[in-house]
Amino acid sequence: MTPLYDAIRAYAHRHPTRFHMPGHKGNFLPVPELQSIAPLDVTEIDPTGDLFSGGEPFDTAQRLWAERFGMEDCLFLTGGSTLGLHAALALFCRPGDQVLMDRGCHRAVYNALALLDLEPVYLPRPWLEGEGIAGPICPQDVENLLVSHPNIKTICITSPTYSGVLSDVAKLSHLIHAHGGKLIVDGAHGAHLPFLGMDAFSGCDALICSAHKTLPALGQTALLFTNGADPRRVRQMTSVFGSSSPSYPMMISLDCARDYLEGAGTEEYRRAAKRTAALRSAFPSLREGTLRLDPTRLTLTSPDGHALARALEGENIWPEMADSGHVVLILTAQDSDQDLARLERALERHRALLGAPPILPAPPLPKPACSLREALFASVERLPLQDCLGRVAAGQLAPYPPGVPVVAPGEVIGEKELAYLKEIGYNNLDVPVIADVTPKRELF
Ligand SMILES: Cc1ncc(COP(=O)(O)O)c(C=O)c1O
Repeated sequence: MTPLYDAIRAYAHRHPTRFHMPGHKGNFLPVPELQSIAPLDVTEIDPTGDLFSGGEPFDTAQRLWAERFGMEDCLFLTGGSTLGLHAALALFCRPGDQVLMDRGCHRAVYNALALLDLEPVYLPRPWLEGEGIAGPICPQDVENLLVSHPNIKTICITSPTYSGVLSDVAKLSHLIHAHGGKLIVDGAHGAHLPFLGMDAFSGCDALICSAHKTLPALGQTALLFTNGADPRRVRQMTSVFGSSSPSYPMMISLDCARDYLEGAGTEEYRRAAKRTAALRSAFPSLREGTLRLDPTRLTLTSPDGHALARALEGENIWPEMADSGHVVLILTAQDSDQDLARLERALERHRALLGAPPILPAPPLPKPACSLREALFASVERLPLQDCLGRVAAGQLAPYPPGVPVVAPGEVIGEKELAYLKEIGYNNLDVPVIADVTPKRELF
């Protein structure tokens, strides 16, 4: 069932004379490869519906997604999970609130807190020595922080992480609900998990998934699922941050991705999961055991992740990301057996670059000098990392953007942080720090 696609296709098949947006009128796009989507690229008129007003064909298309995820409501997003994270935090929090925030959250969450004037109380993640990565959120840490900060009514965590590590969302939601709060899960990397029959998100109050990361869906497509929220309010808060002209080809792509996954796609994702398991047992990588992992994420471990990534790229095989101890590959139903066999042969050739990761645990959290909001809106200057001692970061200093930041915006870059960043080979020459504005003020 593809209610949105059907409605837009029916409109296109009428060969309408379009005196509405977009300006290509369904007739001409000066990009030959995009030409065939022009008739489906429409605007909000009666036959096409309106995402932010609600009603058909969106209600049915989104209900089908919500049912599949066991959530009450779903809203299509054309601004990625970034948009959904902004909307969810705006939905549950009031300016000035404290949020219990996974320190490993994506920078979209840091930015949303700054914009919404929210204060983070960071939730650490245990360090997994052997794997060289941050492990799942520890429920006891959440419980302790909720007891020591009784005002906190919102918690925001990432699950699965970039490297595929899942936290126990059911247990965490139980904990936060017992304290009268809400759980937001950034499941940007987990849109495929419910289609594999996994119970990865149950109990949360808001879930944000990037369809474009792991499903056959257009770039920037994502979904915001909610439980117990008024859908009108969800639409309103999302429209604050999103375009008032959400892309129909993107939303159709969401509608059709679900339909595909409920048909032939499920079996194809199972095949991808089996191939991932085989690759995991053949090559040093994160494995199930004490860890609960996304079954289609291959996180290879390496004494030099960047060298391994370069070696693969030299063979025209392009991983998702690398840090000094890992190379992360996203596997989906769309990787053919030939692609996977090529990958396997390449890994065999570069076996010498696979092995235990060298990464050391990050130093304890630095002290904040100002709020996330002050750091975001401060005057900024950009310096090479070695000149940053004692300066206040105006952006995240993280080994790689999705990683756990060593220094968050508003925190002081101290000796320990510099030494650690040097050790892991983070040689950023363009670190944004809060400018010392005093001399400039004196000019006026
Ligand atoms: C954990 C996580 N959350 C959110 C995002 C932002 O998602 P999007 O690119 O769909 O806006 C990313 C992007 O990489 C991510 O890794």
